[in-house]
Amino acid sequence: MQRFNNKVAFITGAASGIGRATAVRLAEEGASVMLADINEQGLAQTRQLIEDNAGVAATIRLDVSNRAECQQAIAVVVEQFGHLDVLCNIAGIFKSARMTEIEEEDWNRMVAINLNSVFFLSQAAMPHLISSKGNIVNMASTAALVGQIYNAMYCATKGAVVMLSKSMAVEYAKAGVRVNALCPGGVNTPLTANISLPEDADMELFMRMMPLLDIAEADEIAAAIAYLASDEARYVTGTAFAIDGGQTAN
Ligand SMILES: NC(=O)c1ccc[n+]([C@@H]2O[C@H](COP(=O)([O-])OP(=O)(O)OC[C@H]3O[C@@H](n4cnc5c(N)ncnc54)[C@H](O)[C@@H]3O)[C@@H](O)[C@H]2O)c1
Repeated sequence: MQRFNNKVAFITGAASGIGRATAVRLAEEGASVMLADINEQGLAQTRQLIEDNAGVAATIRLDVSNRAECQQAIAVVVEQFGHLDVLCNIAGIFKSARMTEIEEEDWNRMVAINLNSVFFLSQAAMPHLISSKGNIVNMASTAALVGQIYNAMYCATKGAVVMLSKSMAVEYAKAGVRVNALCPGGVNTPLTANISLPEDADMELFMRMMPLLDIAEADEIAAAIAYLASDEARYVTGTAFAIDGGQTAN
């Protein structure tokens, strides 16, 4: 399949996990990809993976929580590739804590990286996406759809990503820009490798977060992102697409 021939995609979180898998997938399908992340070593590895497969990739070091850097990065991708068709806001962080023990610094950092980044990059990209009739895929989570114990901070940011996505979908539908959110359950990436729970955690409530199926692999999430970002999803906008092994059906 070559659904992204002549398309340019800007992908955050591209140094690792789902962002990397998405970059590889879109490049395989013909996209020129701008890989953005704060981790330059990981970016170089992703770029190598794509170039080894004869794909086209460039990298940019970006702290997605910094508005000026986000605006600059969007200017760079348009300057380098001439246009922008797809924005994938995938960078994110995770940390569990009992609600009463959340530190202000952790709260602000998670809001900045998981939520503010989506606003900054979407706002900067929107004029270019209107020109190209492009689209945005934002990374939310099942934490946007159901309350999760010890995840108040994460749920709040991901819930807001879904509503930001829906609002932008409504506001820009007539301009020809689609905006969707993706809501994975558990995915096998570095983000889920070291989850620590509070002492005396309520394991019965915690286990309600478990999917009915096995944990997903990053390339399975990338496949869903590729669909949403492609013209095959012409009629899909404003959705919060759960890909969660039945977690939220339960
Ligand atoms: N892994 C899961 O189970 C799961 C489930 C649902 C949603 N998600 C979401 O998927 C997204 C990707 O997560 P992942 O599982 O691939 O994790 P990951 O840790 O493998 O990748 C996250 C990437 O974001 C980057 N990043 C972090 N802070 C940044 C910053 N300030 N600026 C730029 N880049 C920054 C990291 O360097 C890393 O490359 C996140 O938004 C996460 O919340 C993950």
